[in-house]
Amino acid sequence: MELKIVIFAIKDVEILAVTKTPYGFMPDGKEVFSFNIKNSIISVDILTLGATLDKLLVKDINGVYRDVVLGFDDLSSRLQFSDYHGVTVGRYCNRIKDGRFKLNSKEYTLPKNENGITCLHGNDEYSNAIWECESYDDKSITFTYFSPDMTNGFPANLNNRVIYSITDDGNFIIDFLCIPDAETVINLTNHAYFNLNGIASGTVLNHDFIMNAAYFTPIDQNSIPTGKIASVKGTPFSFIEGKKLGEDIDGDDIQIKNGSGYDHNFCINDYDGTLRTAAVIKGDKSCIKLTIKTTLPGFQLYSGNFLSGAIGKSNYPLDKRTGFCFETQFYPNSPNNPCFPSSVFTPENPYKSTTVFSFSTN
Ligand code: GLA
Repeated sequence: MELKIVIFAIKDVEILAVTKTPYGFMPDGKEVFSFNIKNSIISVDILTLGATLDKLLVKDINGVYRDVVLGFDDLSSRLQFSDYHGVTVGRYCNRIKDGRFKLNSKEYTLPKNENGITCLHGNDEYSNAIWECESYDDKSITFTYFSPDMTNGFPANLNNRVIYSITDDGNFIIDFLCIPDAETVINLTNHAYFNLNGIASGTVLNHDFIMNAAYFTPIDQNSIPTGKIASVKGTPFSFIEGKKLGEDIDGDDIQIKNGSGYDHNFCINDYDGTLRTAAVIKGDKSCIKLTIKTTLPGFQLYSGNFLSGAIGKSNYPLDKRTGFCFETQFYPNSPNNPCFPSSVFTPENPYKSTTVFSFSTN
């Protein structure tokens, strides 16, 4: 495939590179590009479509690279089968009850794109958008996307920026900055499906999870938080001491049933807007350890319950629970829950977040 731009930089004795590669055309004729940044321990591919994390290669315990995010080999498979694989979700990720919310006593009505009941993932606006690559160097790439006022019923023009960076000590970092021109609700996340054993290596049920969350937000049958903040103690939702993801995933528990497994928001302990550890997760076959830190108050642990066998990378089926999503976020349906941390932002107080994914094998 033709390489449009290649930049090399010598740093110590490593050769670092950024490449931009044509990736295909959308049905409307728009071209999609793939950008790669890498260093000696991590290699990341990002698509302009959805500012999507398409590939993330890290070394396993034997020094062999494994791609730890599920996805597709080409654009047409992605367009046909993607269930938000690796995409940037916005302007409001996860669910808003009944597709409506009030801001300053004015009601806003959103598309109910999930079974005509809830607004899910901002009606796919950000994930389906072609993002502009604003700048890049050998360590980071910045993408921007402008969302006009009242797109999908959300108020305010919104300038969005996502910066993907890598560091020499194995960090992959996602920074979001969203500046509205009026007060509005904002909630962005990345929807990568991780499998720390690598693609094509079965389910993630034997991954070891430790999560820094003593509370979670229980959901109703439509996966909308009930408004309660419940203790995880003595429930399948306790990962404080550490356990396999699969240990309680099919238990006789109403919350597990409502989510068809894990598909719940967890509340990060002692949230204060600074970078705090959310989880440490280890692949049982690769010994790849992922530590996730975020400035956000919560994360959606989604255990890939709805994956149903679409053909993914290397023709391997994306079966149920072959990946997990760890979507750092404001709690779902926050605009309708005054007790949750506020996801209302203004031109003076724009939305900013940082999530750090640190990879190691120790
Ligand atoms: C999020 C939701 C899930 C599901 C996936 C996509 O993680 O919480 O319920 O909709 O996106 O399938």
